[in-house]
Amino acid sequence: MRTVRDIPVLHNVPVLVRVAMNVPIENGRVVNDYRLRRAVPTIHFLAERGARVILISHIGEQGTETLAPVAEALGKLVPHPLTFFPETIGVRVRDAVRELLPGNILVLENLRRNRGEIVNDLDFAHELAALADAFVQDSFDTCHRAHASIVGVPKLLPPYAGLVLEEEVRELSAALSPVPPSLAVIGGAKFSTKEAVLEKLLATYDHVFVGGALATDFLKARGKEVGGSLTSSVESTAIAAILPNAKLILPVDSLVVPAETVGTPRARSLARVATIDAIRPNDVMLDHGPGTTALLDTLATQSKTILWNGPLGNYENGFIDATDAFALSVARSHAHSVVGGGDTVASIESLGILPQFSFVSTGGGAMLDFIANGTLPGIEALC
Ligand code: 3PG
Repeated sequence: MRTVRDIPVLHNVPVLVRVAMNVPIENGRVVNDYRLRRAVPTIHFLAERGARVILISHIGEQGTETLAPVAEALGKLVPHPLTFFPETIGVRVRDAVRELLPGNILVLENLRRNRGEIVNDLDFAHELAALADAFVQDSFDTCHRAHASIVGVPKLLPPYAGLVLEEEVRELSAALSPVPPSLAVIGGAKFSTKEAVLEKLLATYDHVFVGGALATDFLKARGKEVGGSLTSSVESTAIAAILPNAKLILPVDSLVVPAETVGTPRARSLARVATIDAIRPNDVMLDHGPGTTALLDTLATQSKTILWNGPLGNYENGFIDATDAFALSVARSHAHSVVGGGDTVASIESLGILPQFSFVSTGGGAMLDFIANGTLPGIEALC
């Protein structure tokens, strides 16, 4: 894989850079700029050498959102002139690129405004490629998607890896050979998106803790009452095959609320801690309880390697305690720690403990897929 350091000439050369600008926005403002901070070194590397830097990214799933506020936030982080252009392809974009000065940066509008991005349309990829003489892939977070800016454009321009991508591949590859005793913790939801990574982790790590909503599927398969908790509609055979594995660890207790209060202000005041055998049919599990937090703290203290992706409770609705507690356990531990996922990084950032982690990935699903397969479509496209 060639990297930005291998681009032979940069001065006055238009370089198309796929970056990770898919960041959370609230009231028109970026609320977590971790991905933007990580994007700066590659952009700086290119602009400092006089490249004409064209940044492309997506934001949101539907293509309805704009990158304008993200460009504004990024502009405050890079020491080079940066402007936003509210279109992605077309004659006006080509004109703007022609007028771009060496060392200046142009941010184009959300790639997903055009359906050609997600269906990897060749004409759309050609329109993007026509803007530049070289392509840099630095959006590790999206390298698991076979989209035009991930697998299409690298076929049409000389492709290079950016500094984020290079570091992600190095750190996550190392995490595939953990120093024992090792602990992997996978939270979040949707078993279908976690099955492959769980199988890989059970083969490579000493302990694999399954938490968050994902744990509900395993508890249910074990014959436990899970009440009205979120479950995936999954083939029980896949979970049944994993259940007997002695490395698998599940929560021992939960913070539950009555089903009829979910999403209402009453939920928190009526919440109670229940051991896994004391869940009632009307309960909904929204976070782990203190017994599970203590169990994870002990495991973290004893581990030399910790890999973690995904929240341990319903983080986006304010059930953050178990996630925050485990973040603090990992930060206190002496383990080599590799973590990723939007809510996981949000927890670490809100606690101000990011420097205490060995590596914080910019990927969520991409990190899981890389761990499962050792590569991603967007990385293969550069080779
Ligand atoms: C992410 O946030 O996981 C990446 O930016 C990919 O976004 P997507 O799930 O909308 O493709």
